[in-house]
Amino acid sequence: MLIAPATPDDLKTLIGFRDEAARWLKGRGIDQWSAPWPTQDLMEEGMLRSILAGETFIVWDDDTPAATLTVDHWANPDLWTPVEAAEPALYTHKVTVARAYAGRGLGRELLDWAGTRAANEGARWLRLDAWTTNRTLQQYYLDQGFSHVRTVVLAHNPSGALFQRPAARVPMPHLQEAPAGREHSTLNRMREGVESRPELPREGNDGSMERSMKVPIEADQARPKLISRHVA
Ligand SMILES: CC(C)(COP(=O)(O)OP(=O)(O)OC[C@H]1O[C@@H](n2cnc3c(N)ncnc32)[C@H](O)[C@@H]1OP(=O)(O)O)[C@@H](O)C(=O)NCCC(=O)NCCS
Repeated sequence: MLIAPATPDDLKTLIGFRDEAARWLKGRGIDQWSAPWPTQDLMEEGMLRSILAGETFIVWDDDTPAATLTVDHWANPDLWTPVEAAEPALYTHKVTVARAYAGRGLGRELLDWAGTRAANEGARWLRLDAWTTNRTLQQYYLDQGFSHVRTVVLAHNPSGALFQRPAARVPMPHLQEAPAGREHSTLNRMREGVESRPELPREGNDGSMERSMKVPIEADQARPKLISRHVA
């Protein structure tokens, strides 16, 4: 399977990942991701912002999107202390495996990919915030070698269970990086196109926004031809 940066053309795929996970969770009586936050439009803008920043990745099994995650360096000040924020860390968001691919360890491998990326850039930690009330999910992260830092209970942010593990390079049996450069020309053009624009809202694991400002980005502007993700 290849892991490649998402492009704006993948936005619907990313929304699909979330919708499918939310339906699956709802079926298990779990309220995580039960509603877009703060609105569908703003949530999608946050996703687009992460795509354009080159922070969102998709795992492809040939033509089929199998999993996704977003990584960035933003220590949400609602969650992480200034001392923690000063430590070099990579933050993962929205790690999601399509249900058809669940139970094969793909989530673990994605976390290993992020941990390897963190180690390669010299970060000390791989960090994430998980749904505050979802103990089963939190146990999953403990099982993946994360330590529970603390849980921050906030009315406006339902994703306050904080976890971290040391950044470390880990071999990945199934995931291969798509060769660099195939997507970059497109993404670079897109980045240049938005550099002069105000920043789009930043999205947390709960879909919460750093800013509530809505920035109009026309769908056509955010829709260059996708450079092939299918790298032999
Ligand atoms: C978390 C996730 C990426 C792990 O993928 P994976 O490595 O393929 O592992 P699985 O899907 O088999 O899940 C492992 C176990 O955790 C449980 N689990 C996973 N996500 C869960 C969640 N959000 N809430 C409750 N339980 C969850 C699964 O039911 C499974 O339990 P089981 O072993 O008793 O069957 C994937 O399960 C997923 O996409 N979950 C929904 C989205 C999500 O919550 N992402 C995390 C955001 S912080």
